[in-house]
Amino acid sequence: MPKALNRRHILQGGAWLSLAPLLLEAACVDTPRSPFGDDSTAEEVTEGLDLTGKTALVTGVNSGIGYETMRVLALRGAHVLGTARTAEKGQVACDSVVGHTTPLVLELSDFDSVVACADAAQAQVGAIDMLICNAGVLLNELRQVRGLEMHFVVNHLGHFLLVNRLLEQVLAAPEGRVVVVASRAHHSAPEDGIQFDNLAGEGDFDRQEFYGHSKLANGLFARELARRLEGTNATSNSLHPGVVVTNIARNLPGWQDAIFRFAGSLFLKSVEEGAATTCYVATSPELAGVNGCYFSACNPVTPSTNMLDDDMAQRLWSVSEQLTRPYLS
Ligand SMILES: NC(=O)c1ccc[n+]([C@@H]2O[C@H](COP(=O)([O-])OP(=O)(O)OC[C@H]3O[C@@H](n4cnc5c(N)ncnc54)[C@H](OP(=O)(O)O)[C@@H]3O)[C@@H](O)[C@H]2O)c1
Repeated sequence: MPKALNRRHILQGGAWLSLAPLLLEAACVDTPRSPFGDDSTAEEVTEGLDLTGKTALVTGVNSGIGYETMRVLALRGAHVLGTARTAEKGQVACDSVVGHTTPLVLELSDFDSVVACADAAQAQVGAIDMLICNAGVLLNELRQVRGLEMHFVVNHLGHFLLVNRLLEQVLAAPEGRVVVVASRAHHSAPEDGIQFDNLAGEGDFDRQEFYGHSKLANGLFARELARRLEGTNATSNSLHPGVVVTNIARNLPGWQDAIFRFAGSLFLKSVEEGAATTCYVATSPELAGVNGCYFSACNPVTPSTNMLDDDMAQRLWSVSEQLTRPYLS
């Protein structure tokens, strides 16, 4: 990283970054296509890679895509810091995979917990090569925390804070990668994008819209971070993992969860396939320097117009800063 750039510059943005969106568009056009697709598994897309000496932090490793991501990165030799909401869940998950893993506690709706997790990561490791924002929730009713709608807090704000607390360590890696697990569900966000005037989610609850709103925030965050990382060795990208049979529907009425699991076992992706794009974006040597892109099925794809809206991304960053300011440094 150039000496003049540090976390403070990235937090503050700057006029020197005004040309970056053009660079980001160009980066995605030039991004190499991979031979992998919907049926590829995380093991297949990382085959032959030796991640010995690399460190990853993956959120939400006790379940679904996060578990498989940790398992495969550790299998390839990385030291994986795996977060879960309780020490016990993290320990059980880490103990069940082969390789070097360390559990950390992280409750994304509790900013003290996010800070404690980042501090624990700082105490455990030096540079972080892969910072993977995977944990997420899908709710069936309006829940609020800190006066804000909970999907937005858990899926976006908690990760915004975690990444900013750990940015110095990502920048210290030779080629640090922030990977944000967003979703194609971001297309279900309100037409006018992030609801800056109603982050509390007041009004009619629409599950798809609220979840999609938080996933749009994931993509905009990754994009704005990418813009701020231009000129450094670090990158930031987001992705859709596919529709994957996991515990994500656990908060829906039992019959809906049951249908999701039944249909999923027949038609949807397995977790082995669901973790492929995350592992590919986090590790592929082909993607060195690729920044500010959105992936699906291990290839760059075009997201919604809202997710490409740099004004919205910059406003989201600044609002997220305001909402987390006491915890940012
Ligand atoms: N499955 C899909 O079809 C699909 C599609 C598109 C995108 N995604 C995204 O993929 C990511 C992984 O989801 P998944 O499908 O693997 O679901 P999952 O099996 O339900 O795993 C979600 C993980 O997030 C953790 N988590 C939930 N709330 C949290 C909180 N408040 N603080 C910290 N951790 C929390 C969960 O911990 P607990 O087990 O303790 O709750 C769990 O470890 C999510 O971001 C999701 O939005 C999934």
